[in-house]
Amino acid sequence: MAKNLVRVLLTGAAGQVGYALAPMIARGLMLGPDQPVILHMHDIEPAAEALNGVKMELIDSALPLLKGVVATTDIVEACKGVNIATMVGGFPRKEGMERKDVMAKNVSIYKAQASALEQHAAENCKVLVVANPANTNALIFKEFAPSIPAKNVTCLTRLDHNRALGQVAERLGVHVSNVKNVIIWGNHSSTQYPDANHATVTTSEGEKLVRELIADDNWFNTEFIATVQQRGAAIIKARKQSSALSAASAACDHIRDWVLGTPKETWVSMGVYSDGSYGIQPGIMYSFPVTCQNGEWSIVQGLKIDDFSREKMKATEKELIEEKELAYSCLNLSQT
Ligand SMILES: NC(=O)c1ccc[n+]([C@@H]2O[C@H](COP(=O)([O-])OP(=O)(O)OC[C@H]3O[C@@H](n4cnc5c(N)ncnc54)[C@H](O)[C@@H]3O)[C@@H](O)[C@H]2O)c1
Repeated sequence: MAKNLVRVLLTGAAGQVGYALAPMIARGLMLGPDQPVILHMHDIEPAAEALNGVKMELIDSALPLLKGVVATTDIVEACKGVNIATMVGGFPRKEGMERKDVMAKNVSIYKAQASALEQHAAENCKVLVVANPANTNALIFKEFAPSIPAKNVTCLTRLDHNRALGQVAERLGVHVSNVKNVIIWGNHSSTQYPDANHATVTTSEGEKLVRELIADDNWFNTEFIATVQQRGAAIIKARKQSSALSAASAACDHIRDWVLGTPKETWVSMGVYSDGSYGIQPGIMYSFPVTCQNGEWSIVQGLKIDDFSREKMKATEKELIEEKELAYSCLNLSQT
């Protein structure tokens, strides 16, 4: 029996990540190869012509799963009836801008779009915030969409997770699909903590801990962490533009696993509203290891955390608490 149509919102659709992500969604990489979709693409007025160009290209691609395209600069029209919202639109940091200025621009965008989405989206809409500062944009989004359950608002750290899998696979000389259960803790920023302490690789003799196979603590505690933390900057240096195709691919992975479930005995990293797990302050959007089932994520509990990890998890938590304070001050809100 044919599946019901799913409406997917993509903001910032005329940008780099949007251009890579729109065809992935329309080809079933986000929701599965048998899931017809209607794509709602939104961007701001100066990008209206480019947005229309993306729409023309999607039509020209004659995609069997794509049952309709809405391309609009009207956020209310864009949000109508959507089941999944992929929030990629945002204000980039420009030369001479202070961190506070970029934060102020973005949190006010996310405040406004949260209200539009909560009023016009379909019930139980799932939200993924990609635009930076992703964790704090997602937090502001959650605060200003009180009727959308907190568990439905997440941010993207899957790109960092995939980068960590890639580094371990390269080091072991195995295919990346044989490696699983790395963790990205905290912020999608250079304070994130990529943790391979629990990661495993499938070998002909069964599952092995990658830390035992590689047996190089120095590499895990220095180069591995720094490479993953700095990978975004390395891409910008090489491409003169920030990562787009890997970000789009990670956004598809994030939603696909959330909606369709994570494979058995496998977790992924998602930025979610902290409930205090692992001693992390509740009320911030923090990346944790999660498993997903029946469209719901849950934080993996009971992992052993050593002192080295604890310190790194706390450092990225501290940055998120500071970002939250800054975001609230930009919006003249008081923290409760
Ligand atoms: N979390 C992650 O892993 C990750 C990875 C890559 C990129 N990003 C972030 O994703 C965002 C998009 O990256 P990009 O390379 O596509 O940038 P881009 O500048 O190419 O595109 C951004 C788009 O957003 C649009 N936009 C600006 N204000 C908007 C608004 N109020 N509503 C809707 N759209 C708006 C712009 O017109 C532009 O088309 C950036 O914030 C980037 O830092 C995050």
